[in-house]
Amino acid sequence: MNSEIGIYIHIPFCKSKCLYCDYPSTTNINIQQKYFNYLMKDIELNKYDGKIKTVFLGGGTPSYVDIKYIENIFKKLNITNAFEITIESNPETLTEKKLYNYKMLGINRLSMGIQTFDNNILRAMNRQYNNEIIEKKFNLARKFFFNINFDFILGLPGDNMNILKKNLELIEKLQPQHVSYYIFDDNHPTPLKSLLDKGKMKLPEYEFIEDGFDLIIEELDRMGYKRYEISNWSKKGFECNHNLIYWNNENYYGYGISAGGHVNNIRYTKTSELKKYFKYLNENKIPYEYYNENTLLEELTEELFMGLRLIDGIKVKKLKTKYGKLYEKFFKKLIQMVSDLIKVDNRIRLSKKGQDLSKMVFEKILEVRENIEWI
Ligand SMILES: C[S@@+](CC[C@H](N)C(=O)[O-])C[C@H]1O[C@@H](n2cnc3c(N)ncnc32)[C@H](O)[C@@H]1O
Ligand code: SF4
Repeated sequence: MNSEIGIYIHIPFCKSKCLYCDYPSTTNINIQQKYFNYLMKDIELNKYDGKIKTVFLGGGTPSYVDIKYIENIFKKLNITNAFEITIESNPETLTEKKLYNYKMLGINRLSMGIQTFDNNILRAMNRQYNNEIIEKKFNLARKFFFNINFDFILGLPGDNMNILKKNLELIEKLQPQHVSYYIFDDNHPTPLKSLLDKGKMKLPEYEFIEDGFDLIIEELDRMGYKRYEISNWSKKGFECNHNLIYWNNENYYGYGISAGGHVNNIRYTKTSELKKYFKYLNENKIPYEYYNENTLLEELTEELFMGLRLIDGIKVKKLKTKYGKLYEKFFKKLIQMVSDLIKVDNRIRLSKKGQDLSKMVFEKILEVRENIEWI
């Protein structure tokens, strides 16, 4: 395959667990060596094919592990000149030495998990830094990286308009090239979820989330960030190319626990359980939890799911070329059910209201998929 591909590597180690987080990770750093040995085997068994365009080291906290493991991954994958290589980090783990080594390895994009600048929320969520550390580490990171992303969460317990305004002021002051602002998702079994269920913690009112998100859109736009995906903004030319591979339904491979991949019409996820991951690899099996050869209809549904998250939506020509009559039939039904789907400049995309109600739109896409007769 001569096409360009993305590579996602999951590094499941964290210094401590945050109350709101359901991502697969462990605080047992003693199994680092073992995990990375198995990861090498995963890469060997599930060989990638194509030219690497992007690499994303995600977690967990990739910046927490020893640099030698990251070096080994790069050697194994034979990463020479990928266009974009991102590493996710938690502010307190960043040191001058690590940042220098990342740069030497060819990493050219640093993602910092900030979540909020509010010290009370950071403490309550068990994050291991405060706002002073964020600024200090950001200034240190700036010596090595121009392309820096900040991840935020809107709507954690204690969040309010004053805090949001301060977060936005700090974005304006520090000027990262990219900002992700996710709305807190409480649909996962986390320690925070049980505290909320027991009434020991409280989420902010929904009204704050709605007004707050509008303020984020307005303020980031004023600061010169372009919203290019429902929860993602960037300065011109600094969109996350790796995530664009996901949203454009292109090809990527995933290595490590819970890592997902999409290669031609194959969609897969690796197991999220460390035990199973080790067991499958011991048996020389690729540790899939999910593996599906998508039908054309499944592929189209996924393409819509992903592409409609982009503010500019999807090129109609691309859909017509790939899916032909099936696309015409699907779209005819979908447009009857979703009034917030619009077709402009030969692209289909969601209206502002559709973006706000994207969950509902995605449910409708599934409904059409269930009801459409195969042609
Ligand atoms: C899983 S973390 C990994 C990176 C790093 N360890 C960190 O803590 O920032 C990636 C991002 O997912 C987002 N995230 C995690 N749990 C979330 C939740 N329950 N709701 C919304 N976003 C969440 C956070 O913004 C976080 O930066
Ligand atoms: S939010 Fe990040 S640091 Fe916290 S537990 Fe999840 S992956 Fe680890």
